[in-house]
Amino acid sequence: MTRESFVDLRSDTVSRPTPGMRQAIADSVVGDDVYGEDPTVNELEAHVAELLGHEAGLFCPTGSMTNMLGVRALVAPGQELLCDALAHVVRAELGGHAVLGQVSTRTWHAERGRLDAQAALAMAVPDAGPYMVSTAAIAVENTHNFGGGTIQPLEQLQRLKQGADEIGVKVHLDGARLWNAHVATGVPLTTYGALADTVSVCLSKGLGAPIGSVLVSTAERIAQARVWRKRYGGGMRQVGVLAAAGRYALDHHLVRLADDHARARRLADAVAAVRPDLVDPDTVETNIVVLDGLAAADVAAAARDEGVLVSVLGPHRVRLVTHLDVDDDGCERAAEVLAKVLA
Ligand SMILES: Cc1ncc(COP(=O)(O)O)c(C=O)c1O
Repeated sequence: MTRESFVDLRSDTVSRPTPGMRQAIADSVVGDDVYGEDPTVNELEAHVAELLGHEAGLFCPTGSMTNMLGVRALVAPGQELLCDALAHVVRAELGGHAVLGQVSTRTWHAERGRLDAQAALAMAVPDAGPYMVSTAAIAVENTHNFGGGTIQPLEQLQRLKQGADEIGVKVHLDGARLWNAHVATGVPLTTYGALADTVSVCLSKGLGAPIGSVLVSTAERIAQARVWRKRYGGGMRQVGVLAAAGRYALDHHLVRLADDHARARRLADAVAAVRPDLVDPDTVETNIVVLDGLAAADVAAAARDEGVLVSVLGPHRVRLVTHLDVDDDGCERAAEVLAKVLA
């Protein structure tokens, strides 16, 4: 089987640049971004900052880097970051916040990654004195990846920010898929942006750029993050070729995320029709479906034999993610294969 013949539901990071995006890359005007001279990067950084209502932005290769730079802007070495136990920052960034940022972390349990602001705030100890670790920031993930594309309730985000402000704790938003939350709910990006001190957004997930994330915050924090980006080896040169892809993605692939959401729901419906114990379709809010309670490796292998790729999240968990390269036909094929494999 060629790669093209698979329906690849492993992640929304697997989509390939479209012809229009490749043209935008070819046409991009570039300069040396370490000198601050790449107009396409400068424009993208300003644009994303404006979309989220922040002062400044910083283009980085990955969401892991924007998360690490965002957290380190808020949390000094030896202080702690609170987050939920399924958060990408503690599960999938290879301890980067500890290794590079010297940040201590403590987690709370959250069903499907859903934020309970009260529970999060109850854990915070902002000024713990000389014997205990002081809390400097709380991280929220919206949408929540390992939770299954969960959208964080706006009133919980508001309660968290207000409570955090009252006790002098900062909020970092891992918004790798904030675009999906925005499209699904209609909540303005600036509203989400106002509820965090640093925000990381990815262009390389559902938006379909080959690479790229942007950190936004105050001009002062972004200036510091720019220094740390270089220190981490992330100072890039004529990287407008990639920023052009990101800008194209924002301009052309944002609204269509609603199609991914509808297709994810279709997949969940198909699975629930044969195995209602694995997923409740009503819990599918965006482009991610988590199936819980199956022999994950066996199911993934059987689906692969039938031309459908899925992600194994654990011995009993499988993840399906819809994206730019899964159209209605691909979705129907995958629905049929999953129904057959799971029946
Ligand atoms: C919620 C979330 N945050 C951050 C990241 C990190 O992005 P990257 O793979 O670009 O480092 C991911 C990647 O999948 C993610 O799902």
